[in-house]
Amino acid sequence: MSIHGQPRRLSTASIRKMKGGDPIVCLTSYTTPMTKLVDPHCDLLLVGDSVGMVVYGMENTVGVTVDMMVAHGSAVMRAVQRSCVIVDLPFGSYQGSKEQAFANAARLMKETGCDGVKLEGGEEMAETVSFLARRGIPVFGHVGLMPQLVNVAGGFRSVGHSAEEDKRLRADAAAIADAGAFAIVIEGTVEPLAREITNSLSIPTIGIGASPACDGQILVVDDILGLYGDLSPRFVKRYAELSPLVSEAVGSYAHEVRKGKFPGAEHTFKRRA
Ligand code: KIV
Repeated sequence: MSIHGQPRRLSTASIRKMKGGDPIVCLTSYTTPMTKLVDPHCDLLLVGDSVGMVVYGMENTVGVTVDMMVAHGSAVMRAVQRSCVIVDLPFGSYQGSKEQAFANAARLMKETGCDGVKLEGGEEMAETVSFLARRGIPVFGHVGLMPQLVNVAGGFRSVGHSAEEDKRLRADAAAIADAGAFAIVIEGTVEPLAREITNSLSIPTIGIGASPACDGQILVVDDILGLYGDLSPRFVKRYAELSPLVSEAVGSYAHEVRKGKFPGAEHTFKRRA
């Protein structure tokens, strides 16, 4: 299908329909060049607030702003051709009230052209999810380990290690699905619980550190490429080790500049005859 000859991208409705079918492939992306590379392989791209840590060197995602998300969301939208694109609502941009959430979500959608927004939270955010969804904003939920709560949780810790945690996660996922989210990220939990939740919901579950039982998977692109961090968490598989390649290439450039070998004749402009 196409609009004016352009292939149509996957919508949030088409992602929702993928529930129970082939696993849904999702990755983060924050820039135009990376989007060109990852988009043909993916179903959904998330402009995650992990951009704060991965691109800006922040310790966690708490300092990320709506302006940053607008800039990176726009960069991704300039290159995407196939995938559905979701932009994260950063910490402090939606927890204040449902009206605040609507204003910031609408800004992200209008200024970037993205397909929907993601927000973290369980039962306490259900009213907000419903408010947004009923007003035309597709919402991607995010439950389990919620990085924006790092300061109350005291670190990044997986969940589902007690009956109480299990009950909470079940209730959070159900509340966000019932509120009208089109899909939900489950981060950092054990397989039996992820499976139970996936089987109980009518919307797709997208796991990050939440086992193969989910309807799809998401990881941070720089993690799978070996571009971020010397050590990876257990749930990350590094499909490439690009850091040493970058370092070697830059070392060769520096060496050639210092030795006067670069630029060579082939890289030097000649006067037109
Ligand atoms: O910000 C992020 O990148 C996320 C993930 C689900 C990967 O929220």
